[in-house]
Amino acid sequence: MKILVINGPNLNFLGIREKELYGASTYQDLCEMINRHAQELGIDIEIFQSNYEGAIVDKIQEAYFNKVDGIVINPAAYTHTSIAILDALKSVMIPTVEVHITDVSKREEYRKISYVKEIAKKSIVGHGLNGYIEAIDYLVK
Ligand code: DQA
Repeated sequence: MKILVINGPNLNFLGIREKELYGASTYQDLCEMINRHAQELGIDIEIFQSNYEGAIVDKIQEAYFNKVDGIVINPAAYTHTSIAILDALKSVMIPTVEVHITDVSKREEYRKISYVKEIAKKSIVGHGLNGYIEAIDYLVK
């Protein structure tokens, strides 16, 4: 089984940005945690991060040709703005789980809209970094 984990803008700044919201763990800590979990499960995992909307669309399209079985995506700020990312996910028809480290439903009004939610099999919000592990487990099952 092949899973692709996609992280949007500023998530490479985990451990630096707004620690009171996102915690002290770094992006590298997140990648190590995901890779360890994938190894335990015996699945193939690729982790991708970009600050660019088009690069995320390209990566989703690439997943189609690479026969990826599941996508875990935290589109970060693009969650609330990007119809292009929603359309890309609709195009490839790969089962997708949306993850947010914080509980976006309890934050600013503009974070309450998620375009990706429309296509996601499940949205995991506010479970911190563990949300990524839950999302992988959900796709594996
Ligand atoms: C986030 C929530 C978004 O609103 C924000 O823009 C992010 C991170 C989260 O994981 O909680 O960058 O997706």
